[in-house]
Amino acid sequence: MRKIQFFDTTLRDGEQTPGVNFNTKEKVQIALQLEKLGIDIIEAGFPIASVGDFEAVRAIAKVATTMTVAGLARCQKKDIDRAYEALQSAKFPQIHVFLATSDVHMQYKLKMTEREVLLAIKEHVRYAKEKFTQVQFSPEDATRTRREFLLQAVQTAIDAGATIINIPDTVGYSNPTEYGGLFKFLLANIQSKEDIIFSSHCHDDLGMATANALAAIENGANRIEGTIGGIGERAGNTALEEVAVALHIRRDFYQYESNIQLHETKRTSDIISRLSGISVPRNKAIIGGNAYAHESGIHQDGVLKNPETYEIITPQLVGVKTNSLPLGKLSGRHAFVTKMKELGYDLSEKEAEPLFKRFKNLADKKKQISDDDLVALVVDQVRQA
Ligand code: KIV
Ligand code: ZN
Repeated sequence: MRKIQFFDTTLRDGEQTPGVNFNTKEKVQIALQLEKLGIDIIEAGFPIASVGDFEAVRAIAKVATTMTVAGLARCQKKDIDRAYEALQSAKFPQIHVFLATSDVHMQYKLKMTEREVLLAIKEHVRYAKEKFTQVQFSPEDATRTRREFLLQAVQTAIDAGATIINIPDTVGYSNPTEYGGLFKFLLANIQSKEDIIFSSHCHDDLGMATANALAAIENGANRIEGTIGGIGERAGNTALEEVAVALHIRRDFYQYESNIQLHETKRTSDIISRLSGISVPRNKAIIGGNAYAHESGIHQDGVLKNPETYEIITPQLVGVKTNSLPLGKLSGRHAFVTKMKELGYDLSEKEAEPLFKRFKNLADKKKQISDDDLVALVVDQVRQA
């Protein structure tokens, strides 16, 4: 099976989440956990952006042993120099140079013509290549860029020495058919692409970041960029854990593997959630609190008979201890009797009948029934007998 590389930008794009600000110590802690998770490349920061970012990239470069450490740079020599300085101790350093190529960015943000953009790419990728073996180029806002111009920009970067081409869906505008098609188009038309890594970088504005990343893989991308939990600017980035687990669970379909140690997923998410202050929505795929919880009677009965009836991912696969069957008004007798047994009450059918009725009455009034509620039901029943 071919391998997909995982590029984590939790500490760069992820830190662009409004309200998130990690200090260097926290960034090092996260980086070490990402290394345990099996991340291939970590984007440790944007060294020119602040002294704090520079120091964090430098500190991570010192401690990373297996991961490539990347630093972000605009098409400016001072950015490339600063990234070079920060990455001095990295065992496997990489620079990530970007410049926008869409009309709206060139006209209003950069105030540059297409020709000027191409010249800037050539000059700065060449300059970066004098200092780094691994040079990544990203045409920012690639998915809103005129296709022919995107091709020219990417070819210019490759000719100037880029070894990795990343195609950002900067504003989460694309969809799987279109984004996959863009990779197909570029791969069919780029010259001398043999040793080039093609990377996907998606945002979730239309809720398609994971689907778009998977479409990129289906069309030739061999690296995926994203963050843990999908944190990031606006609606966030591709959630890497979703791509990793999708590739694993549907390996029959994708036929790819990765270095991701899936059992480290929950621990990684917990650390990042705690340090970022961003809580994981309960219904979030893979890492949400409800991802392995079953409440309806029909589902609970199925899961008690065989978890595969309603679980495609075993919680243990991603480091979650166990699934759960929270009791509520939709729960059935099977889950109720099982729960009572766990609490130490092995009920006969006759004993269970009135208790189950009283449980249902209570559940109609309360969102969730706690263990204490259940014990109180038994105590009450005994008192009344
Ligand atoms: O979304 C984006 O375009 C980026 C680039 C810097 C790659 O984050
Ligand atoms: Zn981004």
